[in-house]
Amino acid sequence: MTVCDYVPGLENIPAAQSGISYVDGKQGILEYRGIRIEELAAKSNFVESAYLLIWGKLPTQNELEAFETEIRYHRRIKYRIRDMMKCFPETGHPMDALQTSAAALGLFYARRALADPQYIREAVVRLLAKIPTMVAAFKVMRKGNDPIQPNDNLDYTANFLYMLTEQIPDPIEAHIFDVCLTLHAEHTINASTFSAMVTSSTMTDPYAVVASAVGTLAGPLHGGANEEVIQMLEEIGSIDNVRAYVEACVVNKKRIMGFGHRVYKVKDPRATILQELVEKLFAKEGVDYFYEIAVELEKVVEEKLAHKGVYANVDFYSGLVYRKLGIPTDLFTPILRSPASPVGWPIGASRSRKIASFDRHRSIAASTISPISPWQSGSVRVVLAWRSPPSASATPLSIDW
Ligand SMILES: CC(C)(COP(=O)(O)OP(=O)(O)OC[C@H]1O[C@@H](n2cnc3c(N)ncnc32)[C@H](O)[C@@H]1OP(=O)(O)O)[C@@H](O)C(=O)NCCC(=O)NCCS
Repeated sequence: MTVCDYVPGLENIPAAQSGISYVDGKQGILEYRGIRIEELAAKSNFVESAYLLIWGKLPTQNELEAFETEIRYHRRIKYRIRDMMKCFPETGHPMDALQTSAAALGLFYARRALADPQYIREAVVRLLAKIPTMVAAFKVMRKGNDPIQPNDNLDYTANFLYMLTEQIPDPIEAHIFDVCLTLHAEHTINASTFSAMVTSSTMTDPYAVVASAVGTLAGPLHGGANEEVIQMLEEIGSIDNVRAYVEACVVNKKRIMGFGHRVYKVKDPRATILQELVEKLFAKEGVDYFYEIAVELEKVVEEKLAHKGVYANVDFYSGLVYRKLGIPTDLFTPILRSPASPVGWPIGASRSRKIASFDRHRSIAASTISPISPWQSGSVRVVLAWRSPPSASATPLSIDW
């Protein structure tokens, strides 16, 4: 009989060693390449943080300017891609539109040359540059209008917001939007990053990798909670209803959207940063009634659920920001997270050659599941979630990371 360990969802199975980002869920710490997220939110911007994540160091002024210029140059999309997008149904979800368009870029630029650093750089730049244009184009074209062309006088984030809202953005709004993108640029190995790692381990092209990651991100259990936060606030409707709503959720064991996290057992540091930004936005543009409900909701949820480690997560306040910026709810996920896909993938590609042996994964029959410890780890040697039959090998198969 084959003895196998079965770990549903590979929970707690290390998939890679990484210094790209670090999360301490007990203390509420998030770092990109060793720099605290609070510091990056205050002093950096999305493009610089993307550079830091991809190449492992902050750019010099010249390097940053060269990177920005390259991205600016590649913002436009080919008319054939635009024509293809015009044929998408207007009722289609923007995440599906993005996945299709990202894959379509591969028809024009793919070379499957993952070992060539110049090719990787070009692919990352193209993806970073064109994803906002494609997301914004779908938003406009699904109403039957022509897409807004990128504005070369605006920086990355201001241009993205301009193409979405069809107005030159106010600098405070552009700054807040930029911080939102920075906060979502990387978060260790979540489902979409894992998906990108598996796809790139086959040495396919980066456009296919990003399309695969976007497809994973599209699921409501991954992206999408911020959309549901807005629906929940609408459903609550009034500050007076907050306490009863929370109590009913607790009694009925219903999840309250925008609260709780697999890793953070204190308030998500990104939620704290976003809350400050939301206050700044509302101080400028007038208080939003939804925000007052949200503040009361956070207070009552903490009172009732803090003992379980349930606090506000990043999705709780991000929806409020996007709503205030006039962005349609179904665009929250593609806007927030998709520019991050080309940031995460090349890093995934560099380590994913080591996980090329994913193609050796097996499924196991339920009757062979063993209740023994699923994995053991030394300092760098990690046993995968399955073992070879004892007759074939005395020691478990493993991979050196
Ligand atoms: C993110 C999430 C899936 C993490 O779930 P998890 O890892 O299973 O959470 P935990 O196991 O730590 O939950 C501990 C307890 O808190 C409860 N809990 C967790 N999140 C909760 C929430 N949002 N609302 C109410 N109760 C919650 C759990 O039911 C559990 O209660 P129990 O001990 O009585 O069974 C979950 O918090 C959730 O569904 N949140 C809402 C969706 C959301 O905002 N997602 C975006 C995440 S960035």
